[in-house]
Amino acid sequence: MLSAVENAVSRPEPSCATGGNAFDRIILGRFACRDFASRPVSRETIEEILAVARYAPSGANIQPWQVYVLAGVEKERISSALLEAHRDARDEHSSEYKYYSTELPEPYLSRRAQFGRIYYGSLGIQQSDTAARANQTSKNYAFFGAPIGLIVTIDRRLEIGSWLDLGMFIQNVMLAAGARPAFVPAGDILEIPPDLAPNAFDSRAANGGLRHFHRLAS
Ligand SMILES: Cc1cc2nc3c(=O)[nH]c(=O)nc-3n(C[C@H](O)[C@H](O)[C@H](O)COP(=O)(O)O)c2cc1C
Repeated sequence: MLSAVENAVSRPEPSCATGGNAFDRIILGRFACRDFASRPVSRETIEEILAVARYAPSGANIQPWQVYVLAGVEKERISSALLEAHRDARDEHSSEYKYYSTELPEPYLSRRAQFGRIYYGSLGIQQSDTAARANQTSKNYAFFGAPIGLIVTIDRRLEIGSWLDLGMFIQNVMLAAGARPAFVPAGDILEIPPDLAPNAFDSRAANGGLRHFHRLAS
């Protein structure tokens, strides 16, 4: 039985999902992959993706994005430092900006809670198991096994409008990556447990309860 919130945000797949529009399919095929194959991606591919992504719109065309591309030993070195900080010195670091408001209002609070249930539930992690949750979070710092990591930064003197520009640039990066053959479907590998509601944040999971994962080709 879906809650009112889940009902409100669950949507059937748009009809364009099966249509002939390639761009719609790329948008619908994008998702937050959390397990990548380690096969290298060429420098040429990364340069192409960034060259396309920089055509994102930005207020007054100031293009406030900066990108650092990490690969090989440099990626490992930064990952190790991040993982060490996450493991040993979490309390010594704090974010320079707030992502969420301190008191998240409805319906966002419920949606975040539902995301947590579905996310950790699909991984078999109890929400009270803080060690297992921290271990899962640490995978962020290893770029979920991806061979390339992008660090996107913005000049801290810029304001909220420029952060909107940054988001558009990042979405362009994801869509340009999703359109390339290095990023291919690896099949349905994550089963949403039947006791969890269909993922209101991912209408693709609503029909069969199976989540489609794209991975770097291996
Ligand atoms: C700005 C931003 C930050 C995010 N941070 C994380 C993160 O730290 N770890 C993670 O696993 N997913 C992260 N996500 C992925 C979201 O959880 C995901 O986009 C959302 O659940 C919707 O699922 P989908 O991208 O698969 O459609 C982030 C997404 C955005 C847009």
